[in-house]
Amino acid sequence: MDDGQVEHDGIWEAPESMDEVLRSESTSVADHAFRDIVGSSAALRDTLRQVQVVAATDATVLLLGETGTGKELLARAIHDRSERRERTFMKINCAAIPSGLLESELFGHERGAFTNAVAQKIGRFELANGGTLFLDEVGELPLELQPKLLRVLQELEFERLGGTRTIKVDVRVVAATNRDLAQMVSERRFRDDLYYRVNVFPIQVPPLRERLEDIDVLVHHFVGRFAVRMKRSIERIPAAAMEAMRRYSWPGNVRELENLIERAIILSRGPTLEVPLGDLARRPSDCAVDDGTESLDRLTRMHVVRILNETNWMVGGRGGAAVRLGMNRTTLQSMMKRLGLARPRESAFRVRSGCVPRTGSRTPAGLCTRYGANA
Ligand SMILES: Nc1ncnc2c1ncn2[C@@H]1O[C@H](COP(=O)(O)OP(=O)(O)O)[C@@H](O)[C@H]1O
Ligand SMILES: [Mg+2]
Repeated sequence: MDDGQVEHDGIWEAPESMDEVLRSESTSVADHAFRDIVGSSAALRDTLRQVQVVAATDATVLLLGETGTGKELLARAIHDRSERRERTFMKINCAAIPSGLLESELFGHERGAFTNAVAQKIGRFELANGGTLFLDEVGELPLELQPKLLRVLQELEFERLGGTRTIKVDVRVVAATNRDLAQMVSERRFRDDLYYRVNVFPIQVPPLRERLEDIDVLVHHFVGRFAVRMKRSIERIPAAAMEAMRRYSWPGNVRELENLIERAIILSRGPTLEVPLGDLARRPSDCAVDDGTESLDRLTRMHVVRILNETNWMVGGRGGAAVRLGMNRTTLQSMMKRLGLARPRESAFRVRSGCVPRTGSRTPAGLCTRYGANA
């Protein structure tokens, strides 16, 4: 038996066509018609159910989750599914604006309110009147501004900086943070009264590593989107790349995946997607925070997949993966078996820029080329 010739068990089954992918995407979200939110995991469905429930009410929503999990996307979904959908969706990132300017950004100022206030400025609360204001990174709001935010949330009124006239607004607030606000309250870095006011309807957005089932469909979604945008025609994703992406822990969540696919499309010279897997392996994986052998297997698996990719899935021989990994060929082969690693074929699917084929047969031989030089 040739080195590297292992069974093809456990490889990713290519979907029949992008149509199928798109259909499965839309079934995943069909109940709620969240068109641009991709994924069908139970965790994401649960989040979307909560979004659905709260959207139509005028309640303040607090989106909790790591960076890149889709909080802003969900904030827009809440607005789009509310009575306010025809009005403004306004966003302000409390972490991106120097704290000295934040008050005037939020509430506006009158001319002459401070040294450089040469003209009157309308703040985001006024600009969002009738609509929704998305307060991103609300945990970064300076303590001294928190009472003013509490007042506008409770009374829907405030004064511009340097102004005396009380301004009434009708704004729905959706806030987001990747901080543990309760912890911040206990450390007196966040006011408890404001915490209770924004925490009326908290929604936890799960990290991508807790919904790895969503990876395939997200990869296809982004490949499709960037292929169209960059006028590329991508027909194949190597199964090894899919496998590595499914194994990775994604500390940067969906944003990291999106960026990786964009880089991959840029790098791809032909119809096969060239995923820079080294970018994944180089990153520290926090799957080690899970306990026990499962995470150890994941780390081992990631490392072995990387070396196998570098050796074109050649297991034995002088340039083979076994030598690189410092073990003998049969040991590596049984390890691969245990980890469910098999020399991949390329998974076949087509994304022609702009046009998605209407039919496709399941992994036809012609589309399914072997991955690796000596396949
Ligand atoms: N479920 C999803 N389906 C499609 N795109 C997503 C999904 N979740 C996140 N994204 C995309 O990932 C990127 C990061 O999402 P974003 O909402 O900005 O995250 P956060 O606000 O939590 O940092 C955005 O480009 C967003 O469109
Ligand atoms: Mg964000």
